[in-house]
Amino acid sequence: MAFPTHRPRRLRENEAIRRLVRETSLQAGNFVYPLFVAHGRGLKRPVESMPGVHHFSPDTLLEEAAELVDLGIPAVILFGLPAYKDEVGSEAYDDEGIIQQAVRALKEHFPNLLVITDVCLCEYTSHGHCGVVEGGRILNDPTLDLLARIALSHARAGADVVAPSDMMDGRVAAIRQALDEAGFPHLPIMSYAAKYASAFYGPFREAAGSAPRFGDRRSYQMDPPNAREALREVALDLEEGADIVMVKPALAYLDIIRRVREEFHCPVAAYNVSGEYAMVKAAALKGWIEERRVVLEILTAIKRAGADIIITYHAKDAARWLKEGWI
Ligand code: PBG
Repeated sequence: MAFPTHRPRRLRENEAIRRLVRETSLQAGNFVYPLFVAHGRGLKRPVESMPGVHHFSPDTLLEEAAELVDLGIPAVILFGLPAYKDEVGSEAYDDEGIIQQAVRALKEHFPNLLVITDVCLCEYTSHGHCGVVEGGRILNDPTLDLLARIALSHARAGADVVAPSDMMDGRVAAIRQALDEAGFPHLPIMSYAAKYASAFYGPFREAAGSAPRFGDRRSYQMDPPNAREALREVALDLEEGADIVMVKPALAYLDIIRRVREEFHCPVAAYNVSGEYAMVKAAALKGWIEERRVVLEILTAIKRAGADIIITYHAKDAARWLKEGWI
């Protein structure tokens, strides 16, 4: 009963029929665009390893936000470059810190743009780790209080969603409790639930000045060969009160996105990280790949794997291409 009765090619004959039977579609409405904010005025400094990505100051950030809104991108995630670093990353929870200033500026001018803040210490600590360091160890429990203070400070500034990216145990519960007690029970938490100790974060660490000064992040971020453990991490974060769970990076972990999608009934986000972006950009600049087709194929794959939300540096380009009808 197979060929010649069945001919799958019948449904590929022209673009109209291909569109009709297409199983996965990309929408700008599912994109989150990462933004790097630094102190100062009039700043728009290119990040060398990520062509098209810049450091903005709170004023130029508004011009970028206007472009995002025009493109129909509903959300941004903010990363800060502080004025100073210390052992406990205190600018991270300073109400006058760079993220707090940026959130206030964005919410004042673009109340409908969803502002997500990355909650972490590594950009703010002198040692570059995502937690309190003592005797060369990254301490878990003393870090929780700091993370809760950061999240609360972001909430007070007007953040719409907080996104802890540190991978300390128990941080979602600590943040949830602090938010609830301070009158923010409605504020969602998007947890970086399955975040791997990946080499694909290289360009980001350059962009955010957040590379660890000693050692690496393997005692808190996940070991790349593990998949069952990712499900356990996600389950724990959901139990602690996470509203959205994230898998990161995306491309080398599409199987994890799929498994999380199948196992849980919450929204799943995937972070198409800096190294994944840089590889595409580098090859495109060399003329070795067709950037538009490659990017749309990659983002479609992340969606097809099961992600509802895609955090990507390609968001502006992709939104433009979608508007132009390239998919
Ligand atoms: C902070 C953080 C990192 C990224 C997002 N939040 C870096 C890291 O864990 O070292 C990486 C994002 C990217 O590579 O695009 N903890």
